[in-house]
Amino acid sequence: MLDHYIVRPPKAVELQLVQMLRHDVLDPQRQIPSDLVLSAHDYDTEYIHMAAYDGTKIVSTVRLNPLIAKINTYVVRKMATAEAYQGKGLGGGVLEMAERVAVARGAEGFILDARKEAIPFYEKHGYILTGAEVSHTDGITNFTMTKQVCDGN
Ligand SMILES: CC(C)(COP(=O)(O)OP(=O)(O)OC[C@H]1O[C@@H](n2cnc3c(N)ncnc32)[C@H](O)[C@@H]1OP(=O)(O)O)[C@@H](O)C(=O)NCCC(=O)NCCS
Repeated sequence: MLDHYIVRPPKAVELQLVQMLRHDVLDPQRQIPSDLVLSAHDYDTEYIHMAAYDGTKIVSTVRLNPLIAKINTYVVRKMATAEAYQGKGLGGGVLEMAERVAVARGAEGFILDARKEAIPFYEKHGYILTGAEVSHTDGITNFTMTKQVCDGN
């Protein structure tokens, strides 16, 4: 199934398309154009982007942010697969590839705040619930999960 798709880091000129996918999947109710503006972080070479392509179309994406406060730990952010492409292994493929790049840069662990419905997805990829929860002003609660890189990875 995955043979049909390519997983690679998006080019800088494609980051706006990445942002549009994030918006459509993660934040569709927000309509202000500023949501489609990339943050300075997106152009920071310390940050790791990964995307899955169906031809030239970006259909899954993730960004790993280096955590300043804890060296060699990356924060998994903006994980999103276009609705029509969910459940095909693309999110997993993108996440694993991004993690591999991070490990090559010295990552020893990963941390993220998961939406409740995404917890099983992250568990399949080795993430464990820490018990910590993050409540947002919009009433949504996220669940902190971590993953340690195994020796030999
Ligand atoms: C969570 C998400 C990124 C997974 O991407 P994906 O490409 O569907 O993932 P894969 O195909 O590699 O893995 C499939 C697994 O993801 C989970 N999954 C599939 N669709 C999902 C959905 N709509 N919402 C949450 N998890 C889903 C299931 O655990 C599934 O396992 P199963 O096939 O054994 O049931 C994707 O479903 C998505 O973008 N969801 C909406 C946005 C979101 O919740 N992002 C995470 C924020 S923390």
